[in-house]
Amino acid sequence: MPDAPPRIALFAASARRDALSKRLAAACVEPLRVAGADVMHLDLNDHPLPLYHGDDEAAALAQGSLPAPVVALQQLFAQADGFLVVTPEYNGSIPPLLKNTLDWCSRPNPADPARSGGVLYANKPAALMATSPGPLGGMRALFHARDVLGYLNMLVLPQQLAVGRANEAFAEGKLIDERQQNAVTSICQALVSTTRQLGRHP
Ligand SMILES: Cc1cc2nc3c(=O)[nH]c(=O)nc-3n(C[C@H](O)[C@H](O)[C@H](O)COP(=O)(O)O)c2cc1C
Repeated sequence: MPDAPPRIALFAASARRDALSKRLAAACVEPLRVAGADVMHLDLNDHPLPLYHGDDEAAALAQGSLPAPVVALQQLFAQADGFLVVTPEYNGSIPPLLKNTLDWCSRPNPADPARSGGVLYANKPAALMATSPGPLGGMRALFHARDVLGYLNMLVLPQQLAVGRANEAFAEGKLIDERQQNAVTSICQALVSTTRQLGRHP
């Protein structure tokens, strides 16, 4: 019986309908599948979470559980064996959407301890990419994202990609620049291979 394919959660850290980061995330679907992944392609616009507020969390827990949209996303993250995150850059760092999403899901839920909190991230491989309409491609956000994911005990791959001038970088769902498209393929292969080596998470 062959091993089940590693499940990779793929999402852009932008809810915007025409987000450049979503274009790059979409361009990763096929390379991930070709590398052998079961791709869980998420759109954070489908998972609107409130801005984290400790009082709101306490009020929800007093009712027995974290807020329903948080629980729904935690259940999806729990199914992931690895992550591929494509982030925009906001003022030299990651957008609040990314931090808020990671923070909410990092909260333990006494109603579902196995599918909430740090266990969603710990020891799971993660790959990072960035996009920007500017020339640097969100490079500064990548380094901050690496810190944040590392703090969550994710195993962040050394390979990363920043796509500058991203508003002009895509045609027919792929990167026009062959070197960049090759980098996408190579990062997807490395992520799937590392995730497979580390094994499925329960
Ligand atoms: C608050 C804010 C700060 C931004 N700061 C940067 C920045 O530091 N570097 C950069 O390259 N682009 C910056 N931008 C422009 C974004 O890269 C651009 O809006 C991009 O399209 C957003 O990502 P998305 O297309 O994936 O939604 C900023 C945009 C906003 C709204």
